[in-house]
Amino acid sequence: MDKFQITGGTPLQGELPVSGSKNAALPALAACLLTAEPVTLRRIPPVKDIATMQKLLAYTGAQIDQQDGSVRIEARSLDRPEAPYDVVKTMRASSLVLGPLVARTGVARVSMPGGCAIGARPINMHISALELLGAEIEQSHGYVEARAPQGLRGGRVHFDRITVTGTEDVLMAAVLARGETIIGNAAREPEVTDLADLLIAMGAKIEGAGSSTIRVQGVERLHGAEHTIIPDRIEAGTFMLAAAITEGDVVISNCNPEHVSALTVKMQQAGAEVADAGPGALRVRAHGRPTAIDVTTEEYPGFATDLQAQYMAWMTIAQGISFVTETIFENRFMHTQELARMGANIRIVGRQAIVAGEPELTGAQVIASDLRASASLVLAALRARGQSTIDRVYHMDRGYERIEEKLAAAGARITRLTD
Ligand code: EPZ
Repeated sequence: MDKFQITGGTPLQGELPVSGSKNAALPALAACLLTAEPVTLRRIPPVKDIATMQKLLAYTGAQIDQQDGSVRIEARSLDRPEAPYDVVKTMRASSLVLGPLVARTGVARVSMPGGCAIGARPINMHISALELLGAEIEQSHGYVEARAPQGLRGGRVHFDRITVTGTEDVLMAAVLARGETIIGNAAREPEVTDLADLLIAMGAKIEGAGSSTIRVQGVERLHGAEHTIIPDRIEAGTFMLAAAITEGDVVISNCNPEHVSALTVKMQQAGAEVADAGPGALRVRAHGRPTAIDVTTEEYPGFATDLQAQYMAWMTIAQGISFVTETIFENRFMHTQELARMGANIRIVGRQAIVAGEPELTGAQVIASDLRASASLVLAALRARGQSTIDRVYHMDRGYERIEEKLAAAGARITRLTD
């Protein structure tokens, strides 16, 4: 298993370029199942989860052609509309093929995604939403089987709580359902809006994406399209915090500043300078320890849960005590024990982490537990005095493209050790 070896204490300088969004690319790839015509997606990040999703699409019968940074998908005939366990177990987001497969072929058999380090990750809301569109769904032997032999019909969906991939799943089913579908309490994440943009380019009739009510008029079929995936706002936020925690001066390029507004405000309150640096770019500078500022994670446009661990790493060296409250997932503080090994002073009380800032961190051997926790450990190690080793960086490879190369190009002393 690969490890990262990091020597901390060097302020990052120069540029950190952001790749395409993993969490926009995953539903976009699933959406290609909705048409027999070819769809070309640009700025697909070559990360592990994307490779897994492409393997899954190929398994169902789609043709996949990689070109540099672009992917061409042709789902002319889908002879195996299913997502087998050995593919799903490595990537939860495979539930995203449930809606497209049942909408396109009338049948879908998807292995129930297991839980993961951050929580149980059920898909009950995906299932009840698809049932409202007329799918008959059974769950047995660890699989969800959805059938709609007469096709899907439009309906009124209202999610009990906001679900990003639940919104995406039912949106992809609704575009081919007969009649109108209204999705209430829909997720407003930029990745949902990006998916809607792709579906509209494919001929879907969608209004209100990005708001909490989405209206869809079903159509007979969709056609091919070309689409460029939005930048990864979580990678952008991770880089902003890397600049701040190392007291550096960095331009984060190829990003969408609007998508990281909640983080920008918090970082400015804590004392970092965050300024526009031209189209699609932000410049982040910081001197000295940040002021402790509380944060509560919320659905977009609130503070992203996927940036909570990285923000906490910065708060471990703050002046004062900050309260970090996680409202989305039930177990997303796995990084705190590993941060404590580097000298962080954190107390967990229910959904709240109380972070007492310390003047410095010291390098240590730590283990990554999930994708964003691993990013938090990298940020802490870039600050810590001395050397750190981070084990199980395969978690990082699921969602960050060549992160050690990007960070090293900005001055970080980081190398990948391959066993
Ligand atoms: C998406 O996960 C993202 N993944 C996650 O990013 C992100 O953390 C999450 O949204 C929240 O923003 C992708 O987009 C591929 P949810 P998703 O459904 O859709 C509960 C990363 O690091 N829930 O919005 O699975 C659920 O357990 C990943 O890139 C149900 O109870 O999250 C959670 O507590 C991690 N029943 C809450 O809702 C359901 O049917 C929000 O989950 C669905 C969800």
